[in-house]
Amino acid sequence: MIEWKNLDSLASYKELLKLKDHVDIRKAMTGEEGANRVMNYQVPMAAGLSYNYAAKQVDEKVLTVLSDLVKEHQLIDKYIQLLNGTIINTGEERSVLHQLARRQQKKKVLINGVDKREFYLSQQQKAANFANQVHSGEITNKAGEKFHTVVQIGIGGSDLGPRALYVALENWAKANHLLKMEAKFISNVDPDDAAAVLKSVDLAHTLFIVVSKSGTTLETLTNEAFVKNALKEAGLNPKNHMVAVTSETSPLAKGDDYLISVFMDGFIGGRYSSSSAVGGVVLSLAFGPKVYEEILEGGAEEDAIALNEDITKNPDLLDALIGVYERNVQGYPQTAVLPYSQALSRFPAHLQQCDMESNGKSVNRYGEPISYVTGPILFGEPGTNGQHSFYQLLHQGTDIVPLQFVGFKNNQIGMDVEIEGSSSQKKLCANVVAQIIAFACGKDDENPNKKFEGGRPSSIIIGNQLTPKSLGALLAHFENKIMFQGFIWNINSFDQEGVQLGKVLAKKVLAHQTDGALKAFSDLLEI
Ligand code: F6P
Repeated sequence: MIEWKNLDSLASYKELLKLKDHVDIRKAMTGEEGANRVMNYQVPMAAGLSYNYAAKQVDEKVLTVLSDLVKEHQLIDKYIQLLNGTIINTGEERSVLHQLARRQQKKKVLINGVDKREFYLSQQQKAANFANQVHSGEITNKAGEKFHTVVQIGIGGSDLGPRALYVALENWAKANHLLKMEAKFISNVDPDDAAAVLKSVDLAHTLFIVVSKSGTTLETLTNEAFVKNALKEAGLNPKNHMVAVTSETSPLAKGDDYLISVFMDGFIGGRYSSSSAVGGVVLSLAFGPKVYEEILEGGAEEDAIALNEDITKNPDLLDALIGVYERNVQGYPQTAVLPYSQALSRFPAHLQQCDMESNGKSVNRYGEPISYVTGPILFGEPGTNGQHSFYQLLHQGTDIVPLQFVGFKNNQIGMDVEIEGSSSQKKLCANVVAQIIAFACGKDDENPNKKFEGGRPSSIIIGNQLTPKSLGALLAHFENKIMFQGFIWNINSFDQEGVQLGKVLAKKVLAHQTDGALKAFSDLLEI
């Protein structure tokens, strides 16, 4: 019998609270003890990745209490319930099935009599067949010429995840001669976004994918009209250039002016939809269906690892637990994701939505107010660029910001240069290693301005190279971490009511149904 309890009702949480400032990483990360922690505090992940938490403020004692919390809070049972299709999204009364979209599971998940695994697989297959036909020239433009560019029109989860994954693999695909079509993205309702993309493509040879789960998103529908207009003005029939990705019940699904419609459904949240047709169509077109399948395989492998009861063998759960310790016990309000990989430049933006839209909640899964803090503010940028930007605050600012580094031993493009005895890749890796120790141990100085307090925790995910499989594992790791944190806080991580109010007010502004300050601001902007 699963019990959904608030975090502050757990005995293990009360024990955890007693362990505030229990580990001083300035000492623990120094000398032989530090070296031992680096070797011992690491957990294998899928696709050859590993999660190293040596520089986090934990030790055996903290890990024991965190492990007690896992049992008391039935976290693995809750994950199994989710995988089995139980209604976890209490706000919208829905199952949560994004893992199912990438999982070859034997057990069927039937929702209203529909085999959901079959459904997701059929849509993946549909996307794959379409991509193969476009690549082979079976599907062409009206003049019989091949399409060579694809533009995704969508926002939020219908943009960020697929865009981050595309950017992550674009150069890898070029280096491996696997880039089938260049992909671009239009998301913002700012007309300059669509205009700039439209000006950069050859319309006659471009496919546009309109992606909206709801089929009602203002930005996406506006941009779709913008693009159709541009196609018509260029003498092209939009029907020959447009694809829809939506849910079967959405208004978009009723349109008949698409080359093909591929479906997802309400059981996959927008921010988790990279593993559905939302990511599947654009990534299969860009890289080919096989590469997309490899992304899903990496994710599925990570999802399986996340079932482990032993937290020292479950990187997703452990990362979630340490995050809760930092947020609720240590009281740190932010976290930063810092990939030392230019290819992951859009990954923090994707995680901003995935994490903050999921866990930025003040009521529990039953709508009751809670009296502890939940999701942290998340931000990030690739290293080393970030070092020359906001790391000053991270090193010497008044707040401690727990950090999540990602680093790879090898780059994606087979090109590098040896300058002053080291390659650029080694310089990149040297920097992330240096940062971990600088943050953890700090440096004393008689000049206070040059003093580094240290005691600033970080973890690092290390991989051989960023490939489709390791990217899929990385994606699933963070999705699963967010899911476990939602379970721990007893919140519903799968709805997003907090985005509605602004949308309602914007509609009023556009309909000129305003008064007071809303009207005054509208007048200032001449709306
Ligand atoms: O406004 C937030 C949101 O609902 C996100 O959750 C979602 O990813 C995005 O809008 C786009 O939604 P849709 O795919 O329905 O257009």
